[in-house]
Amino acid sequence: MLRPAFPMLIVALLSHTVHAAADEFSPRVRTLVSQMTLDEKLAVVQGGRDPAYAGEAGYIPGVARLGIPALRLADGPANVFNRYETTALPQPISLAATFSTDLAARYGELLGREARATRTDVLLGPMVNIMRLPNWGRNVTSSGEDPFLIGQIAAAEVLGIQSTGTLANAKHFLANNQALHQGGGLGGAEGANFVIDERTLHEIYLPGFESVLRAGVASVMASYNRTNGFWNAENAANLTQVLRQELGWNGFVVSDWHANRSTQSINAGLDMEMPGPGPQYLTGREGPKWGPRLKAAVEAGQVNIATLDRAVSRVVTQMERFGMLDGKREAAPEDIPVATHAEFARTLAAQGAVLLKNAGAALPLTPAMLKNIVVIGPTAAQLAVGPGVSGFESRFVSPLDALRAQAGDGAKFEYVAGYDLTGSAIPTAALIATGGSAGLTRQALDGSAAGVDAKLDFVGADALPTGRGYTWKAMLHAPASGDYTLAVQSWGGSGMLKFQGEAKAWSAAVRFGHGVPRKNSSVIPTRDGLDNAQTSVKLEAGKTYAIEVEGQAEPEQRMQIRLAWITPQMRDESRAAAVAAAKNASAVLLFAWARSGEFDDPDLALRLPDGQDAFVDAVASANRNTIVVLNSSSPHDMPWLTKVRAVLQMWFPGQEGGWATTDVLLGKANPGGHLPMTFPVKATDNAALDPRHPERYNGVANTVTYSEGIFTGYRHFDESGITPLFPFGYGLSYTTFDYSALKVTKSDNGLNVVLAVKNTGKLKGSTVPQVYVGRPARTAVAMAPQVLAAFTRLELAPGESRSVQLHVARRQLSYWSVASHSWEVATGARPVRVGVSSRDIRLTTTTIVE
Ligand code: BGC
Repeated sequence: MLRPAFPMLIVALLSHTVHAAADEFSPRVRTLVSQMTLDEKLAVVQGGRDPAYAGEAGYIPGVARLGIPALRLADGPANVFNRYETTALPQPISLAATFSTDLAARYGELLGREARATRTDVLLGPMVNIMRLPNWGRNVTSSGEDPFLIGQIAAAEVLGIQSTGTLANAKHFLANNQALHQGGGLGGAEGANFVIDERTLHEIYLPGFESVLRAGVASVMASYNRTNGFWNAENAANLTQVLRQELGWNGFVVSDWHANRSTQSINAGLDMEMPGPGPQYLTGREGPKWGPRLKAAVEAGQVNIATLDRAVSRVVTQMERFGMLDGKREAAPEDIPVATHAEFARTLAAQGAVLLKNAGAALPLTPAMLKNIVVIGPTAAQLAVGPGVSGFESRFVSPLDALRAQAGDGAKFEYVAGYDLTGSAIPTAALIATGGSAGLTRQALDGSAAGVDAKLDFVGADALPTGRGYTWKAMLHAPASGDYTLAVQSWGGSGMLKFQGEAKAWSAAVRFGHGVPRKNSSVIPTRDGLDNAQTSVKLEAGKTYAIEVEGQAEPEQRMQIRLAWITPQMRDESRAAAVAAAKNASAVLLFAWARSGEFDDPDLALRLPDGQDAFVDAVASANRNTIVVLNSSSPHDMPWLTKVRAVLQMWFPGQEGGWATTDVLLGKANPGGHLPMTFPVKATDNAALDPRHPERYNGVANTVTYSEGIFTGYRHFDESGITPLFPFGYGLSYTTFDYSALKVTKSDNGLNVVLAVKNTGKLKGSTVPQVYVGRPARTAVAMAPQVLAAFTRLELAPGESRSVQLHVARRQLSYWSVASHSWEVATGARPVRVGVSSRDIRLTTTTIVE
């Protein structure tokens, strides 16, 4: 299973792993629970109010009288998300692209340490949901489309996290693979029923969870959606039958935030409700479903006290296991070793970077290319740290500044924005206040004063007073017809933008950050450091539109706030300037970006947002040495691909991403990543977006059916003979590797695969031998043409050779039988292929599987 890259760590952890059957509690846990009052029991399973609140997502009070400590739960998954400064790592999709369990274990260890250093007990990660859709907002925190890869990466990460005394949490259970119709969450909406058959669940959607359960993950999060008829927080088939009876796990299940819908959920196997009535609770919600209601249900005999005891015991069992009941817990570090952790973040971002195209060895940049290079794009001049992370802000260095610092004397850089994400304050001339004068009508929220402001642009020295709130209203008229970006930009207070009476954008809103404002509304903040919440609207010349902004300063801060726009004319002018500059450059580095978040991208065409595709095309037409750097986390169709020299997928590279991007561009690091997902040529090539199957994504009659079954990701592309834009497992290097001498032998519990790998190029680099096992000629059930069954990652010096040994477990040779409800090996002659991607197979042999 896991390669013990940290032999000590893994041995130590396995001894921690709980092997007891589900729901056998220790005498100590039983005694403690028997001493608790009903209220005390609730204080172990119900979110509460933290007297020392530090921006964490959830809090369990515990029972001090009995030595049961409080628990603080914080997100995950790419940094510890609370009020403290913590390292912003590259996003999980970048980690998955490394195909490295060693790096995953170190990623987890770093997160675990930082959690402890910032008083967090449970880290809400890793996310082990499969990437089923190219437009899912959460692709960024996923480990891609293959269940085996996800399981290996996530299990290593869990071992790393838990080696530090932090409890890990695997989320979101189960089949939570799209935001559309999932229900619950920020929107609070009713959702669809997600229907998945037993075999598909076992082969595709469960293995990631199973793998972390076997690694001893302390907790699992029940997701918002409904599967096979039941909300996941009250789904006995999943929470009890699968987790406990089938997999024998004895950790605790916590609801996703606001995912719990009843008191009866405890009977189905939910052990903890989140959030409690603290600052994490979204306003406008009805209140926790447990708390006083669960107490009443127990008192009325509707919920058996033994059921509550079971939930309490599961939580306390994990506390006992982690030494939290007796002071034997792994000691918490006093502070974060900022520089060491930054070093890891930088290395990882380069190791996860995927070189998608490199025609004529355009990269690494040569002195000739660097002579007079034009750099374009907002994420070149400002670091795209990543969605949902903050990081040590003082360390942020943009790729452009890092390039200038690293490229040496002969290099010359000119920066042209090309497209701007900040825009400028909407001018007085475009605004009509109540009563007809130019500007906006301002009203204080306490009703104290009204007046007219020429513009809504209170930044720097003009920031508004501490603690005050205002609304601004105006009619907006457009100078020309076209697509406009409107933005409310703020810091030191939150902003909300309404267009034609409808709320469209929220800046620095504490409700999205568990009481802590963030600068994550767009891919980067404004150039002057405000959170930048945008919306796109079509405006017609001559018409007027109602616009309203509400701003509320933080209790102890002055509020900077601006109402900005980007007009079609501004956009055209800045793009034209960039194309003109590109013409005479020795080369162009064009940074393109796409947003990412909890919601799906409604644009199913896989386009880059804000018309960037046409812009990339125009730049590439002006300069044949155009190199595209992507800050995104999902597949895009890249209609300009043949026109550019190189494409480097940097994902969202974390707080050291400027340096890491530069390391790769200049060849100080060799990009080592491989795609953990398939990039389709067009969205409809993806199984779930096949227009003949509306039930797969949009749903039919409020039911989303995973009718593609096991044929998801590359399994579908292979089965249907569809050529992808870039296949699963793909990634280029600055060096070349030769694979040879494949030998496959049987072992007791699977296959042993041996091969030789040689670095035949001139630079040090990493390669990822991927073992794919094919199906036998005749199968009892429909099987995928091939599945990833083993992989490793190794770094070789130029000329260096190494013999590589991999193990294919029997599980990877098996399918889930719905007749026997168990795994059955698919026997017969099975092809064993070793490739550098799922479509670039270097060695093949056949072995008889019995
Ligand atoms: C997300 C979870 C997260 C939780 C707590 C939810 O909205 O789905 O991933 O852990 O909030 O912040």
